[in-house]
Amino acid sequence: MLIFLDTANLEIIRKAKTSGVVDGITTNPTHVSKEIKTTKDFHELIREICEIVDGPVSAEVVSTDAEGMMKEARELAAVHRHVVVKIPTTPEGIRATSQLTREGIRTNLTLIFSPAQAIFVAKAGATFASPFIGRLDGLGQDGMELVRQIRTIYRNYGFATKLLVASIRHPMHVVEAALAGAEAVTMPSEIFHMLFNHPMTDLGLERFLKDWSKLQS
Ligand code: E4P
Repeated sequence: MLIFLDTANLEIIRKAKTSGVVDGITTNPTHVSKEIKTTKDFHELIREICEIVDGPVSAEVVSTDAEGMMKEARELAAVHRHVVVKIPTTPEGIRATSQLTREGIRTNLTLIFSPAQAIFVAKAGATFASPFIGRLDGLGQDGMELVRQIRTIYRNYGFATKLLVASIRHPMHVVEAALAGAEAVTMPSEIFHMLFNHPMTDLGLERFLKDWSKLQS
């Protein structure tokens, strides 16, 4: 299972990378807007992230028409070989993705909220499909059920698109995504750090070290 961090913050990425378990990064316009002052700095930020992480780095287009998306996608793909172009799952986004696939540009289709959207995402040849679990849960729906449905559909037809579970709100989302067979999950750094910990591990370690300290050296 690929573990991605959902952030554009260089310090957070550098720190998390030392764990050795971060496989890639996803960014979005909201994350990026917190890290740079002007759009001119966008490509440089993405390049820096790509140089830290040895894996896919999703960078999102902001055009809403297919032509604009494709132009941005080609420019982003030229920034670094790690770039995966993030494209919104709209009719224009699907159209752009079909063409980008033919050009060999990797894509991550974002803002997926239904299994029907995920079918077209796979047919367009996207590299990753990103269903937004937490936002669906927030509407009172079952986000993880969407993940299971997409997993079944992709398996039924042998689609190569990887399921990337996004909009993670707590560690159990990560566990459930793994149980459902998702190939990848992206999460904020707070959730990433929560995954390492268990109170019983801390208590157990405290006890072992206390007992060890009773020995004479
Ligand atoms: C994923 O690629 C998105 O950037 C992210 O998971 C969005 O999650 P949010 O619902 O926490 O904004």
